[in-house]
Amino acid sequence: MKIIMLGAPGAGKGTQAKMIAEKYGVPHISTGDIFRANIKNGTELGAKAKEYMDKGLLVPDELVVDLVIDRFKEPDCKNGYVLDGFPRTIPQAEALDKALSAIGETIDYAINVEVPDENIVKRMSGRRACVGCGATYHIVYNPTKEDGKCDTCGAELILRDDDKPETVLNRLKVYHEQTQPLINYYEAKGVMKEVDGTVDMKDVFAAIVEILGE
Ligand code: AP5
Ligand code: MG
Repeated sequence: MKIIMLGAPGAGKGTQAKMIAEKYGVPHISTGDIFRANIKNGTELGAKAKEYMDKGLLVPDELVVDLVIDRFKEPDCKNGYVLDGFPRTIPQAEALDKALSAIGETIDYAINVEVPDENIVKRMSGRRACVGCGATYHIVYNPTKEDGKCDTCGAELILRDDDKPETVLNRLKVYHEQTQPLINYYEAKGVMKEVDGTVDMKDVFAAIVEILGE
């Protein structure tokens, strides 16, 4: 099962992708998490990506595409994967299609988690991200059992550098300009599905399970 998560920054792509990965036994591949891990480990890729991420801009396509295409050739992807944060531009989607068609595969579902811009800024300031495993929490909507510590791996939680309100507004602008056109792109391919992302996260997930099947 090959799934793409679409949606504005903070729509809940990561939250839902994690649940999908657990239920359907496929890896969750988040380009944002990959970049954040690189930043944390002080790699060259991390240093390059950080310049763009901190401004709320997209990392250039050439730094992203090969990274994802190499990743989904790994053995754990043999039954599929859930892509979170990729593709994010039409050229990325085209590169993905090209790489998939070379091995006779296609995407099964693109799921758009729909949340209006007004809800997003409010959500982001309450988000906390785990520096260890990338898990995402919210101080009100999805708190951890122990304050400041990840439920899954026990690592420290942080407020992401790009979750400051002014950066969030920029990320939303970039989303509307460069990523939203992917909705039409996948609609034309007949794989586009939409869920309401403003309801409780369990109900968002239930709507996704309805699409993907039990
Ligand atoms: P990335 O990490 O992908 O960030 P994003 O797309 O901006 O999305 P977020 O991770 O912020 O939000 P999300 O939709 O995953 O929401 P979440 O589940 O956390 O990318 C970061 C940066 O990396 C980009 O800006 C770019 O610079 C770069 N980048 C990454 N991929 C790239 C690519 N392919 N090309 C170029 N550049 C790339 O939820 C948000 C919060 O809301 C959480 O606190 C959560 O607990 C809460 N929440 C979730 N669902 C609900 C709900 N139903 N009700 C209430 N609260 C909820
Ligand atoms: Mg995310």
